[in-house]
Amino acid sequence: MQRLVSVLRQDGVDKELIHLVNVLGTACKEINFRLHQGALAGVLGSTQDENVQGEVQKKLDVIANTLLKDLLLQSGLVKALASEEEDDIVIGNKDGDFLVSFDPLDGSSNIDINAMVGTIFSVYRADDSLVIDESSFLRPGREQVAAGYVIYGPATLMVLTTGQGVRMYTLDQTIGEYLMTEPQVQVPADTQEFAINMSNQRHWAKPMQDYIDDLLKGAEGPRGKNFNMRWVAAMVADVHRILCRGGLFTYPWDRRAPEKAGKLRLMYEANPMALLIEQAGGAASTGTERILDIQPEQIHQRVAVVLGAANEVDMVEQYYRHQ
Ligand code: AHG
Ligand code: MN
Ligand code: MN
Ligand code: MN
Repeated sequence: MQRLVSVLRQDGVDKELIHLVNVLGTACKEINFRLHQGALAGVLGSTQDENVQGEVQKKLDVIANTLLKDLLLQSGLVKALASEEEDDIVIGNKDGDFLVSFDPLDGSSNIDINAMVGTIFSVYRADDSLVIDESSFLRPGREQVAAGYVIYGPATLMVLTTGQGVRMYTLDQTIGEYLMTEPQVQVPADTQEFAINMSNQRHWAKPMQDYIDDLLKGAEGPRGKNFNMRWVAAMVADVHRILCRGGLFTYPWDRRAPEKAGKLRLMYEANPMALLIEQAGGAASTGTERILDIQPEQIHQRVAVVLGAANEVDMVEQYYRHQ
């Protein structure tokens, strides 16, 4: 099996970006190690601190964030970085080639129940302006030069796109190398498997309510009546399932968020996942616009997310169009 760096070279990826992916992969190997120590290393449970999202930070949120931040800044490759766990952007090397946004640990509520979590990252090429501030990051997701995640499950995998499709790499823990195990990920256009947190149903806008009601009634359509539901409470795991066997994932906007936002964050959750899904032949929308076309307004901006099987996303968008 081919090593990650060798595949990236073969894909013609420039050496700086290969170096950056390697740094991300190395940080995630350390996160993987800490996660798998679990209670033995006293890394479970919460801290006393709240992040800018208003969430109580888990110890591993902070450990993962520190590992990624330190390694990325030490690499000299990063002009600045943004993280779910950092209030503001962190300035790096003024000559750095990249802007990196990341969710150091996605699905934190799963840590203490030994369920799936992951690290999500999004990479833009830095322009050569001397001024670097939050606005430098605020570019549509379509401009990402790389996006991916590392999912820490029974196996640890890196799933990555550099704009030439999506490939999966399994971490060989004996040699510490990511080996390509899936060269070309494809998301089927139709599906019978849906991921949605039904407990929020009372808050949804009417279009999503109508769509789910029709689904549950087994409304005719490409999916027939074989509706089946999964909800891992870690976006990275729900998206990974979709990249492995298809499906639809949605965290829709609801009445609690008047600005038509959902829970998920655009820069380091929705955008990187949307690029992966689109590169694998799926679709990613807020219900009313494609995620990769959104002009971001701030680094912790939240959006609604409906992604996966292209025909299903189209159907959801029809419900929003005809509301
Ligand atoms: P994070 O752990 O990085 O804060 O993200 C959690 C997100 C996402 O991973 C998941 O799909 C969603 O929260 C789950 O939300 P609910 O707990 O409301 O189901
Ligand atoms: Mn969080
Ligand atoms: Mn997350
Ligand atoms: Mn997180």
